[in-house]
Amino acid sequence: MNALLLAGGLGTRLRPLTETLPKPMAPVVNRPWLEHLVERLRDQGIRDIVIAVKHHPDKIRNHFGSGKKWGVNIRYAVEKTLLGTAGAIRNAEPFLDDRFAVFNADIVHDVNIASLVRFHETHGGLVTIGLTEVEDPSHYGAVEQDGEGRILRFVEKPKKEEAPSRRINAGIYVMEKRALAYIPTEREVSIERETFPLLIREGAGVYGTLIPGFWMDMGTRERYRTLHWEILNRKTGIPIPGEERSSGIWVGRNCRIGKGALLIPPVLIGDRAEIGDRSIIGPYAVVGPNCRLGSGVRCSETILWEGCVVRDETHLHQCVIGCGLEIGSRQIMHQAVMNRLGVMEA
Ligand code: GDD
Ligand code: MG
Repeated sequence: MNALLLAGGLGTRLRPLTETLPKPMAPVVNRPWLEHLVERLRDQGIRDIVIAVKHHPDKIRNHFGSGKKWGVNIRYAVEKTLLGTAGAIRNAEPFLDDRFAVFNADIVHDVNIASLVRFHETHGGLVTIGLTEVEDPSHYGAVEQDGEGRILRFVEKPKKEEAPSRRINAGIYVMEKRALAYIPTEREVSIERETFPLLIREGAGVYGTLIPGFWMDMGTRERYRTLHWEILNRKTGIPIPGEERSSGIWVGRNCRIGKGALLIPPVLIGDRAEIGDRSIIGPYAVVGPNCRLGSGVRCSETILWEGCVVRDETHLHQCVIGCGLEIGSRQIMHQAVMNRLGVMEA
């Protein structure tokens, strides 16, 4: 069984960060999320990985190449036009095993792939959907099931009051290759809006099972930030780089922490970052590698990507700042998300 990672979407809800980068390449605790995902799959025995790419495909291809550095074999299914979540799977057909797993590449989870496959085998469906439970299903694909786990209804992005349950599609599937016959070629097809409803209508065997443990979609600015705080609070086992100097304070190699600077946990400082005198970083801050923060800077609930410069006395709260950006002195920024191409304030 190999795995297909869907990584071609435009990431519109994370703009402008995703104007120049596919969403799954956004850093998570200072490393591209896709690296974490590839390693997590590898550690569960999946070494043959296909990545479905479209938006900035070279950012992914040039980064991973053959996958050798990660101990896996990676191939790329490239879409000429955006084919949608099902179209992307169909387009990857030549690379897929008779049974394969699909992962939305923007999901952070603790799924146990072997137990998902066991469920799939014992129920004998064409597709098994990993499910999770959320408070508000209206941002996801909500399902209704019978007592055996068969999915009776799949409603993508329902109105909150119309959702059949709080159980939602976790963006993880085990599929038999025969299911591809239900996906038309050469046009955009959504697995959530078209293929799952079709398979359910045809009685083709669509099952779902709850995957226990941590689960989060990083696709909005707020969730992207919250994800980091969950990781720093150890809600999921994603490795946090650097030395934990005291509880909840991780500092990378060759950093310079100025006189009187205060690191308030949880906080992560990347390699070679400089924190100016009397700065207050945290609670909840991730400073990327090679960032330079001046004196008297305050930074809370904020993520700085690699190589940012923040001048003296500037205050950042609930911001995400893209790679290499420079922010002048004495600014006060709240909920700004910005990269070289622009700023988006909440
Ligand atoms: N290759 C390719 N081509 N990938 C795509 C395409 C496409 O045309 N469209 C989307 N993707 C990728 C995205 O890059 C992302 O990794 C994944 O498919 C899911 O797309 P999102 O745009 O993030 O979807 P969503 O979060 O609104 O909803 C989906 O995920 C939810 C769980 O987080 C749906 O699958 C929901 O049903 C599900 O509950
Ligand atoms: Mg998503």
